[in-house]
Amino acid sequence: MKKLIGLAAAGAMLVALAGCASGGSGAAEGPKPLDELVVGFAQVGAESGWRTANTKDIQAAFKDAGIELKFSDAQQKQENQIKAIRSYIQQQVDVIAFSPVVETGWDAVLNEAKAAGIPVVLTDRAVDSKDDSLYVSFLGSDFVEEGKKAGQWVLDEYADTAEPVEIIQLEGTTGAAPAIDRAEGFAEVIAENPNLEVVASQTGDFTRAGGKQVTEALLKSNPGVDLIYAHNDDMGLGAIEAIEAAGLVPGKDIKIVTVDAVKDGMQALADGKINFIVECSPLLGKQLVDIVKQVNDGETPEKRIITEETTFTQEQAIEALPDRQY
Ligand code: AHR
Repeated sequence: MKKLIGLAAAGAMLVALAGCASGGSGAAEGPKPLDELVVGFAQVGAESGWRTANTKDIQAAFKDAGIELKFSDAQQKQENQIKAIRSYIQQQVDVIAFSPVVETGWDAVLNEAKAAGIPVVLTDRAVDSKDDSLYVSFLGSDFVEEGKKAGQWVLDEYADTAEPVEIIQLEGTTGAAPAIDRAEGFAEVIAENPNLEVVASQTGDFTRAGGKQVTEALLKSNPGVDLIYAHNDDMGLGAIEAIEAAGLVPGKDIKIVTVDAVKDGMQALADGKINFIVECSPLLGKQLVDIVKQVNDGETPEKRIITEETTFTQEQAIEALPDRQY
């Protein structure tokens, strides 16, 4: 994947923006008071527990900072996100932030924002563009690393197994950065053991219903499956329902590894229905506010800010659950 991330472009863009059109907060006239700043946020949708937590965190952070946040929910459709971004450009907001539902197809609308002098911040997901001057900063997880962590658990779990291990992969939204990267990282690590084989891989669109439906179908065509790797907790929770409906025991007959570590996923892990979770933190609000403040002050935010994350075993989930924020 070509996430073209460089450090020089942020500065260049901000210099260009300072002398640019009417929209955007800029160093040229000096910083605006925070209560005069307006940020437009184009969210992916409400497909998962992670997304709901992410929306709440971002809305709370802007409220706390006293910065107006215009919010739109694209219902997992790129055309809706593009419409929302165009509307923010028309309204001449100071900063646009968005979490791109898929990686490709953003250059035109991001060029429109650039021409209007409005800085864009990517949160959570990357865009695949050759022009990294189209956004000032990208704040979010390293999804390839998350896939590697999931793969490493599987590699260790089956280190002493001489038999083939059949794996079903429940992919996130087709074309989305976390779906592409989590598959890539996982595949790279499990390739070390030729016994580990992904026998089926299909999208469940990051939803619980999607995870359940795909698992129901794939259990029929792959009755010998040993493990399910779901790109998020919600799809893993849907898989649990399908496994139980098939008269099998999740976590035992079929092991499950997921990504996110939202409360429902952590509860299933603590209950022994999921075997391992790689954390993906949705708590990006405060860092996003900081980036907006930096842009407003005429500073150059870091081009790539990677979220700090951990992993959870069943024992660790039991310990962490009482204090889990989301
Ligand atoms: O982009 C982050 C992913 O999107 C989360 O892992 C998933 O739950 C969400 O829908």
